[in-house]
Amino acid sequence: MMMEIKTIMVIGAGQMGGGIAQVCAAAGYTVYLNDLKQEYIDKGLARIENNLSKQVSKERITQDDLNGTMDRLKPTTDIHDAKHVDIVIEAAVENMEVKGNLFSRLDEIAPEHTILATNTSSLPITEIAAVTKRPEKVIGMHFMNPVPVMKLVEIIRGLATTDESYQAVEKLAVDLGKTAVEVNDFPGFVSNRILMPMINEAIYTVYEGVSSPEDIDSVMKLGMNHPMGPLTLADFIGLDTCLYIMETLQEGFGDDKYRPCPLLRKYVKAGWLGRKTGRGFYQYQD
Ligand code: NAI
Repeated sequence: MMMEIKTIMVIGAGQMGGGIAQVCAAAGYTVYLNDLKQEYIDKGLARIENNLSKQVSKERITQDDLNGTMDRLKPTTDIHDAKHVDIVIEAAVENMEVKGNLFSRLDEIAPEHTILATNTSSLPITEIAAVTKRPEKVIGMHFMNPVPVMKLVEIIRGLATTDESYQAVEKLAVDLGKTAVEVNDFPGFVSNRILMPMINEAIYTVYEGVSSPEDIDSVMKLGMNHPMGPLTLADFIGLDTCLYIMETLQEGFGDDKYRPCPLLRKYVKAGWLGRKTGRGFYQYQD
């Protein structure tokens, strides 16, 4: 029989964790939202309330829906609240040591039936699972940014993940209004394995003087019907993140085709990380 998920803990109230907590609470789940400090959670909750208020003013949801969603969010700095939940979705920083520590603690705290999921964009699920005594219940649940808008969830099966765990997570994703795809655990999963080499190639095209960033983005937008050009998207994701994922692909597959473009390295070294620093392939005012 498939396990039924009712209560959720989201770890990390940042960009992704906040979005994940929002969609889970909006779908009627009770959600413990955990971060290291109360102020980080408060910021996350304020962002969620702001998102929901915009939906109210566009008459997509009612004020009652907003209040209900906010009521279902339980802020907590105590990871021991994991003992109350059926699934933990971890969206803390992209760092193996941090995730390893979190998963070994969660394994001790959470009830036996609890699924431990991670929103990692590039770390191996199988390696995270190996720090626990329940690798069959460890799984990747990779949401896209911004979570409330993007329809896809990549569900990644580690080497030991069971069908039962997979199906419970798939049902949750569908309940959240998302489309789930099943992916095995290899570097970059499917999304970043295909996206990042395209972005890297676009950077090579700038590097080799083939064309300008604006024109390269126009080719992909107007010629291929992509909603956003690859260099605009790279600036949005963050060039440091793009570099990190290319390095993960190169290391994981040992293939030269994943070699990060020297221009990408140079921009990252210069601190030109895209939107978040005001400069990447483009310049930003705000
Ligand atoms: P972020 O920096 O906005 O948020 C991370 C949050 O985790 C921070 O609030 C931080 O205080 C908290 N945190 C760090 N260590 C913690 C711990 N031990 N316990 C509890 N909270 C802790 O980062 P973001 O962008 O939300 O990324 C989170 C995860 O989602 C990463 O694994 C990232 O690779 C993944 N991801 C990011 C995407 C993106 O576009 N930003 C897309 C898909 C996945």
